[in-house]
Amino acid sequence: MTIPTTNLGVMEWVKEIEELCTPDQIHWCDGSESENQSLLDLMVASGTLKKLNPLKRPNSYLACSDPSDVARVEDRTYICSISKDDAGPTNNWMPPAEMKKNLKNLFRGCMKGRTMYVVPFSMGPIGSPLAHIGIEITDSPYVVVNMRIMTRMGQRVWEVLGLKGRFIPCLHSVGMPLGEGVQEVAWPCNKDQKYIVHFPEERSIWSFGSGYGGNALLGKKCFALRIASVMARDEGWMAEHMLILGVESPQGEKTYVAAAFPSACGKTNFAMLIPPKAFQGWKIWTVGDDIAWIKPGWDGRLYAINPEAGFFGVAPGTSLRTNPNAMESMKANTIFTNVALTPDGDVWWEELTETPPAELIDWTGLPWTPDCGRKAAHPNARFTAPACQCPTIDPAWENPEGVPISAIIVGGRRTTDTPLVFQAFNWMHGVYLAATMGSETTAAAVGKVGQMRRDPMAMLPFCGYHMGDYFRHWLKMGKRVPTPPRIFHVNWFRKGDGGEYLWPGFSENMRVLKWIIDRCTGHGVGVETPLGWVPRYQDLDWNGLDFTKEQWEKLMSVDRESMRLKTLDHEELFLKLHDHLPKELLFERELLISRL
Ligand code: GTP
Ligand code: SPV
Ligand code: MN
Repeated sequence: MTIPTTNLGVMEWVKEIEELCTPDQIHWCDGSESENQSLLDLMVASGTLKKLNPLKRPNSYLACSDPSDVARVEDRTYICSISKDDAGPTNNWMPPAEMKKNLKNLFRGCMKGRTMYVVPFSMGPIGSPLAHIGIEITDSPYVVVNMRIMTRMGQRVWEVLGLKGRFIPCLHSVGMPLGEGVQEVAWPCNKDQKYIVHFPEERSIWSFGSGYGGNALLGKKCFALRIASVMARDEGWMAEHMLILGVESPQGEKTYVAAAFPSACGKTNFAMLIPPKAFQGWKIWTVGDDIAWIKPGWDGRLYAINPEAGFFGVAPGTSLRTNPNAMESMKANTIFTNVALTPDGDVWWEELTETPPAELIDWTGLPWTPDCGRKAAHPNARFTAPACQCPTIDPAWENPEGVPISAIIVGGRRTTDTPLVFQAFNWMHGVYLAATMGSETTAAAVGKVGQMRRDPMAMLPFCGYHMGDYFRHWLKMGKRVPTPPRIFHVNWFRKGDGGEYLWPGFSENMRVLKWIIDRCTGHGVGVETPLGWVPRYQDLDWNGLDFTKEQWEKLMSVDRESMRLKTLDHEELFLKLHDHLPKELLFERELLISRL
């Protein structure tokens, strides 16, 4: 195979990795339709993929992973900066030299019997001033076909890279060399050794042992968040775990907002929201559902791009009721992972339909019936779909300059205490709210689900440096622009004493979003409370929804005593970060306590 690039750095690096990993062959990816099809065919033949019924789900496939490889592995994720202090107390760390040595031992010969794919990709529209290039070397064809959906992948990247262009080297192996009695399996991975490692100074990524999601599609969390957050700190921009959407009013006025919710807490749903019928003339446009790269523009506002080209969305819970736009996005050309298979060759997952099918093959390959007591799909089952298939994709979603952000929304899964919505008094107060936000853990990461933890800016698993310095960077960015976005806190997940959700959510979140937009454009009313500005019952548009003032009071109630106690909870995180914590956040906490 001829080498499609003249980039000296790429050629040298690929040669070095070939010598280390000793694959049987190298495949330089061009991103073409025919290359993609031959990889898909290869994986159907090997049993990694099942082709779905083309009449039901054209050009779509199902992959079912090894049950030990189903989500991000946060406890195996490392930030190996030169100094431990730079990684901070919220990241795993090892000295980079020691980790490199350890990794080289693991990677030595690890691609034996396999093909090594060289995958060139751009995060962000090719050629955008905000875009960056990466090259992923992987021995997983599943990763290649997913990267082709999730990023701009292929030949054009070599052209942009030229002779001397810079790129982020991303090395990945499933960690299962073949030969000497090792039989190929449908989902190769390494059950004992997993390492997701970032070298922030070198700006490189080494991932070993997992083939799943953010562990293996290295453009996403590893590059676009962990490494990019370090680049952003050094270069004066922001890499955030945020969706981006545009709100168009009946008058045609468009306002963009970004929102940081932790993993599996509703970013995809919110990014594709369809306003309730009563909101005639209002329209939501989708720019991105997971990651935002944000940079000050020439006019002193913050501009954001979505560095991705596809959605890697949570399947369970997604339905025509909760997210019709996501359903439309995955109608064809989609890879499903860890969902169930129907007898007619389509997919199913919990809550897709009100009545489950009478029989299925579940994600582990076993026959399934509604009364069998098991879940048909894994709770972190996902669909990989091209963003351009979303009916509400914003006409400006590939604008190389990005879209201007008027509001930043933060929030998590809080079953108690936290009200539906409130607005920060100013940027500094907003940074405090975002820094102290809490959320219950979800199936997006391996570990216990439903446990409350602090997840600052929804970036706890994704910040590539010291969290205290990251807060300082946020404060700095607010000062760099004359009118920083307004910051809001939302909680769609508050529950009543009987465990029922107090807020209908989904489409109805439009009512909250409209208040937020009104606040940004200067016509919204809010009243001052110790937490921030809040809407009164009459400040939201209730047209078409039967939601009483009593329900509202319950949803918005703040118990000062319990809030005061909760504020002490922040102390735990602040103590952990104390030697890097910006003083402004301590002032904000004092102010909050005295307001309470
Ligand atoms: P990652 O891709 O993991 O970063 O997550 P995400 O934030 O995009 O998650 P996603 O939108 O896929 O969240 C899915 C989960 O949130 C599902 O269980 C949904 O049912 C639930 N969800 C989303 N929006 C709402 C809402 O407004 N109310 C309630 N109660 N649940 C919601
Ligand atoms: C998340 O966990 O926040 C995701 C999915 O978006 S993954 O890419 O697997 O990290
Ligand atoms: Mn995410």
